[in-house]
Amino acid sequence: MSIEQIAPLVRGEYLRRLGVPVVVTALPDADSGLEAQQIGELASIAPPEGGDWGTSWVEVESVDELPAALAAAPLQNQGLVEVDGRSYGYKVSTVGAPEPLPHGKDPAASAAAARARVVQGKVAVVTGGAQGFGAEIVRGLVASGAFVYIADLNADGAAKLAAELGPNTAAVTVNVADEASVEAMAAQIAATTGGLDLVVSNAGIVRAGSVLEQEAADFRLTTEINYTAFFLITKHLGRLLAAQRRTAPDWTTDIIQINSKSGLVGSNKNGAYAGSKFGGIGLVQSFALELVEQGIKVNAICPGNFYDGPLWSDPDRGLFVQYLASGKVPGATTVDEVREFYEAKVPLRRGTYGSDVMRAIYYLIEQEYETGQAVPVTGGQVMLSS
Ligand SMILES: NC(=O)c1ccc[n+]([C@@H]2O[C@H](COP(=O)([O-])OP(=O)(O)OC[C@H]3O[C@@H](n4cnc5c(N)ncnc54)[C@H](O)[C@@H]3O)[C@@H](O)[C@H]2O)c1
Repeated sequence: MSIEQIAPLVRGEYLRRLGVPVVVTALPDADSGLEAQQIGELASIAPPEGGDWGTSWVEVESVDELPAALAAAPLQNQGLVEVDGRSYGYKVSTVGAPEPLPHGKDPAASAAAARARVVQGKVAVVTGGAQGFGAEIVRGLVASGAFVYIADLNADGAAKLAAELGPNTAAVTVNVADEASVEAMAAQIAATTGGLDLVVSNAGIVRAGSVLEQEAADFRLTTEINYTAFFLITKHLGRLLAAQRRTAPDWTTDIIQINSKSGLVGSNKNGAYAGSKFGGIGLVQSFALELVEQGIKVNAICPGNFYDGPLWSDPDRGLFVQYLASGKVPGATTVDEVREFYEAKVPLRRGTYGSDVMRAIYYLIEQEYETGQAVPVTGGQVMLSS
């Protein structure tokens, strides 16, 4: 038994009773060596009317008895769970002052909600969050009042962004293509915030090349990171979401895959990438069907090219510089001309911004009545036909 198993059940119990996202922080413990954690700009949850806070205390023989025992216990802002003679302490707080979102037939649900309300106080993880689209998504979520795990293979990059954005972020080092690493991340999240509300599976790579020439190793690496990793992320973080759902049967959560326009139409000499992205949509649709039972919506966003991001604009290794050097754009003699050539392919005449992707993320979270979809954000470059 460990705090990783207990904390999601505790978090779920508070989600159910309060109707707003909370953070469950494990208290330091001499036996387990758990240290005091400083996370987030946390606020106390309000005490019961006319009452004072105390400590909830629940004693069970096995974790299976815990949901019923928690449901019978008074609501307190901290508690102690004793399972089979071993005790675990926790504290419950919120990030900011989140308000419940109106749902379903509530007339208030048809009024436009402020963007921030959609994610305020929620706990999110963004893979590949250290740079590019991932960093844009991290910034957008933090600006809207969420607590965000910046999960990346690039530990320094994630730590640097976390330091810049402040206490409502935590850097996590993870290789999304490695199951043990993803599992360890899920355990770390459970022990730190008790659970999650939003998973953005964004980490991805491009290894372009002709099918007649590409090394199989490059094809496999692309598949591992863009395709297989989405299975690993959904498996282990989905289990965490499902665990918290045991005590919060009405709490819905989101898994959003950052796909690509290349997941909707083929890409010349870029088959490894396009194939992995097409496959990603198959996983999104399939996982969406299964995870409805766990209250988890699973959707994809298919952005067009992020010309301002490092993949395209890096002054040394970016695609604009590479395409200029290789003469891929006939007649282009400067990086700006290469860029103009690509921008002209987009009906709305520009590349995709981080803010375009963020608006799709807010839409998918706020929209209760959609799952298994792939939402294009391409400036009209790819239009759906079926
Ligand atoms: N840049 C574009 O034009 C564009 C267009 C459409 C879709 N996308 C998609 O957006 C996502 C992000 O792309 P980007 O261009 O911002 O990429 P990027 O290369 O700028 O950043 C990717 C991040 O993912 C991290 N990463 C790579 N492999 C990882 C692994 N195994 N485990 C954990 N982290 C890992 C990197 O360290 C990096 O921080 C990708 O899924 C990509 O396919 C990008």
